Amino acid sequence: MPETLEAETPTTADPAFREDVLNGLAQAQPAVPARWLYDRRGSELFDDITRLEEYYPTRTETAIMRDNAAAIAAAAGTGGALIEFGAGSATKTPLIIDALRPDHYVPIDISGDYLRASAAALQADHPDLAIDPVAADFTKPFDLPREIAGLDRIGFFPGSTIGNFVPRSATDLLRTFRDILRDGSRLLIGMDRIKDLDRLRAAYDDREGVTAAFNKNLLTRMKRELGAEVDEDAFVHEGRWNEMLGRIEMHLVAVRDTVITLDGHRFAFPEGATIHTENSHKYGPRGARCLLLAGGWTPTHEWTDANHDFAFILAEAQPNRFAP
Ligand code: TRP
Repeated sequence: MPETLEAETPTTADPAFREDVLNGLAQAQPAVPARWLYDRRGSELFDDITRLEEYYPTRTETAIMRDNAAAIAAAAGTGGALIEFGAGSATKTPLIIDALRPDHYVPIDISGDYLRASAAALQADHPDLAIDPVAADFTKPFDLPREIAGLDRIGFFPGSTIGNFVPRSATDLLRTFRDILRDGSRLLIGMDRIKDLDRLRAAYDDREGVTAAFNKNLLTRMKRELGAEVDEDAFVHEGRWNEMLGRIEMHLVAVRDTVITLDGHRFAFPEGATIHTENSHKYGPRGARCLLLAGGWTPTHEWTDANHDFAFILAEAQPNRFAP
């Protein structure tokens, strides 16, 4: 078969992807949900992003955890069950496990395959740790495994992933965490700080173009999986600071008039029009605490780096809602 024909034949078309693209491109500000950035290639590129010179969050959060391991353990308590929202990173998860020495570790991820692979790798290095993975979408309520009934529970949500949710959804998510973990539980959460705008922008638009490739991979997926007609060269990546909303936005910007065609629908992009693909909200010290409080979590301790680039916060689900 000629290569061009093969390239245009949709392969693994997830109906939800098609629907999100059709609905998203029809909006006044075209937008595609960020989850579609993370296919195998997208996840690899994101991994590369976390190692970039300009991308300070991963390195900074890891250093905060390492430098404050004893204080974090003293404040958060040891033993019990550690519940991670996400399948865990090869660096941060061992760090927190070595600091908190939980009896049970419960990683929660929507991708069962990824979950099993990372749990197996972790088990090899921590033979005595009971690992009870849960394949679930952690934005919706679900039951914790029976094995941890009666144990103290501490949630772990690193990477400033909370910043990828708009505040309204972030509040819902924190409340869901609270409902899952229940009264008396704790949460360790990483949140990226507002800082020098050039540094912020560089973290989302690196010199090597890895973030650009990550963002543009969405267009490649639309062509390959959905059979969309897209001129990929007509779009460039932009990391844009939105001052009013306190967030970096990732956009694909049309550099000339272009059209995307999908299932007989034509979406016109005049030069300068964009597809919005991701948000990364940044919080000052007070904003971070307000968000946690609105989500039902009382901040009790906070650790940061010497530059105050990133915050690692401990919060508590206090049982009493009505104070005097
Ligand atoms: N939570 C990270 C962040 O906002 C992850 C992330 C999402 C990201 N989209 C990204 C990182 C795009 C770099 C580029 O920073």
